[in-house]
Amino acid sequence: MPARLFLSSGDLVADRRYDFARDLQLRGDLPAAADLLLQAIELAPNFVSAWFTLGEIREQLGERDAAVAAFQKARAADPQDRHGSSLHLMRLGAEPLSGMPQAYVQVLFDQYAPRFEASLVDDLGYRGPALLFKAVLTVRSAARKPAFFKRGIDLGCGTGLAAATFAREVDHFIGIDLSPRMIERARATGHYGALEVADMVEGLYGKPDASADLILAADAMVYVADLLAVLAEARRVLMPGGLVAFTTETHDGEGVRLGEGLRYAHGETCVRASVEAAGLKLSLLENHSARNEDNVPAPGLVVVAAKT
Ligand SMILES: C[S@@+](CC[C@H](N)C(=O)[O-])C[C@H]1O[C@@H](n2cnc3c(N)ncnc32)[C@H](O)[C@@H]1O
Repeated sequence: MPARLFLSSGDLVADRRYDFARDLQLRGDLPAAADLLLQAIELAPNFVSAWFTLGEIREQLGERDAAVAAFQKARAADPQDRHGSSLHLMRLGAEPLSGMPQAYVQVLFDQYAPRFEASLVDDLGYRGPALLFKAVLTVRSAARKPAFFKRGIDLGCGTGLAAATFAREVDHFIGIDLSPRMIERARATGHYGALEVADMVEGLYGKPDASADLILAADAMVYVADLLAVLAEARRVLMPGGLVAFTTETHDGEGVRLGEGLRYAHGETCVRASVEAAGLKLSLLENHSARNEDNVPAPGLVVVAAKT
């Protein structure tokens, strides 16, 4: 996992107390860690990393309401919400489910970028691009059409693993990702004609109608609560006959959930409904896991939909 985010309070003594508190937290002395964090906060009342860590500790201690209050303070101290306090508030049921803070995703993957491929592919057995490749080939072969595409868009392209997998099938790839450090790595692969640091929906807004024939999102929809917003724009940007293919994590129930790993899981019914509401035709929906979580395959879906 990426290194832990630390945002200095600007007060050396408060920062030092925070460091001690983290040591204590890691050693399991949670009440002493909470005391030190409160002392740090007394010195620097808007110390976002201290509020955030206090939220975690309160939760570890089973003090849900105090955890909620601390996460609320952390978010108020950093409206961009780089720590992702709002995700903890959603997970604790203190707020309704909504989108991920963009700054949180950006910081998370900027920190993750240097170790991303080793961690995801080697440690978590990541197989998202290969699953999408097989699914797209299956759909094209069933339609008796060649699996060659002129213009592809890779949403949440990361370091470029999906474009590498599809390199021989797609003439020109545009990659879109929120994280500048991930985009730097994608650029180094040479697989993209263009790369943009942007939210995927905003990136799609800038594309002309019917300008792509393949849109991919490998392990990126897990950071998107509202699939319909992405799929509706994808449909506009796709040429007739074009495909959108994505993986997501899933669960047995209805709707969208935020898991312990702070990734969204979309129920199958909600995926089907989003595809239909976007005006796309579902070509393939299969249960496949794109990666492991705690050494067990995380339940997932592979989806291909077509613009008719
Ligand atoms: C788990 S990585 C997957 C990267 C790549 N698709 C792959 O298969 O290796 C998820 C990527 O999605 C990006 N991401 C998450 N939410 C996004 C959004 N709303 N818009 C654009 N990129 C996003 C992250 O920055 C990250 O690089």
